[in-house]
Amino acid sequence: MTATDETNLELDDIQAGALFERPSPYVGTYLLLRIDDRADGRELVRRLHRIVNPAHTAPEPAAGTSITVAFTYTGLQALGVPQISLDSFAPEFREGMAARAGILGDTGESSPEHWEKPLGTGQVHVAIAALSPDPALLRSAAERAWRAQEEIPGVELVWRQECYQLPTGRTSFGFKDGIGQPAVEGNGRPSSNPRERPIKAGEIVLGYPDETGELPPMPMPAVLGRNGTYVVFRKLHTRVAAYRQYLHDRAANRADEALLGAKMVGRWPSGAPLALAPTGDDPGLGQDARRHNDFGYADDPRGLKCPVGAHARRANPRDAFDDDGSVNVRLHRMIRRGTSYGPALPDGVLEDDGLDRGIVFVFAGAHLKRQFEFVKTQWLNDGIFIGAASEKDPLVGPNDGSGSFTIPHRPIRRRLQDLPPFVVTRGGEYCFAPGLRAMSWLADLQT
Ligand code: HEM
Repeated sequence: MTATDETNLELDDIQAGALFERPSPYVGTYLLLRIDDRADGRELVRRLHRIVNPAHTAPEPAAGTSITVAFTYTGLQALGVPQISLDSFAPEFREGMAARAGILGDTGESSPEHWEKPLGTGQVHVAIAALSPDPALLRSAAERAWRAQEEIPGVELVWRQECYQLPTGRTSFGFKDGIGQPAVEGNGRPSSNPRERPIKAGEIVLGYPDETGELPPMPMPAVLGRNGTYVVFRKLHTRVAAYRQYLHDRAANRADEALLGAKMVGRWPSGAPLALAPTGDDPGLGQDARRHNDFGYADDPRGLKCPVGAHARRANPRDAFDDDGSVNVRLHRMIRRGTSYGPALPDGVLEDDGLDRGIVFVFAGAHLKRQFEFVKTQWLNDGIFIGAASEKDPLVGPNDGSGSFTIPHRPIRRRLQDLPPFVVTRGGEYCFAPGLRAMSWLADLQT
């Protein structure tokens, strides 16, 4: 097989969702479907093929209404994909997210037995995401997606989740998200971090060389794998009241509360990174797309500005490992397309109102194992890589009430103790978003 020039991405065949930013603000709908009849499932794929957005037609983010379609392993089985082809998918994808729960730290309240049904049961076959900057446009996009399955008896809508950007433009914990993203070679969008070269297209889209110079393992036949992307989605409930109460109980005053919150994330609520604004929020910096990602951690090895255990620093340590060469951070980059769901907890409220709120975390990449699973298990759920084995990610790690978080400080460091879990997994799936030609191939299967 020959490698396509990485600067020559087949944008007419790649679904836009993985490559291009979603609009901001946005509204969106996720629809999950089950295929009970193979022929009806193929008819669904035929109809969806007509409404997904190929990347070359992707409008500028602010205007973009997009529909992205992905399939689970059991979905590909339900469509009648031959076993030899099913066997060529990544093992983690074949197993499915629920089977990986122990590895991912989805235990206790986050374990699959407590997930929203039918997530993790094998009954989710097709995932559709419709996103738009405008509720009216979303309605028409969601209707298109809805109509695609409506009159097909052998296809059942089994789960639905609405999402929308909160009026503050931030996620439920109060922080701007979605800033740290790699640029992808060949998609024509510059890097928001001038210190980071765009990553090779094969890190995100199958069929192109990746950072190792190789073609990543690709599902076969090539028409099925090429221009596809693995997608992870996880509905993550956030315990905002517990998080606020925790900070409130440990902080000396309101300013200290804000500082502790920022130390946990690695950025201030506006998005301003601690690496550039170590002592206080700087909303101008937070909004400035030319500056808010232009930093590294090499000048802060001890984490005096941004703790080495802060969420964003763990999830992307940037240049922190450059000297010892022990970790090639570029092999663990990912595209994130998360959205918010549920109402904001009003400012200042410290008591839980019982409402469900959080993020639908969405990953896109060519390597489930060395991208999503590596970051989740080695960097967020474990502290060995930062020399603090017992410290999990303070914000999103599977803490159990006994964890701690160290905030380096001179003359004396601070340590937050007894961290409870602030995030609970409500369920999720590993999916594969095929290219458009692959969708035609699926629709035309004769098995
Ligand atoms: C409820 C769960 C989560 C919340 C509330 C959350 C929140 C945030 C926030 C506020 C940021 C800083 C803004 C930014 O740099 O874009 C961030 C960055 C990031 N998060 Fe998360 N996150 C969550 C889960 C995860 C998970 C499960 C992963 C990966 C497995 C992850 C990976 C990342 C990455 C890669 C970055 C970018 C770091 C950078 O490039 O500097 N996050 N997250």
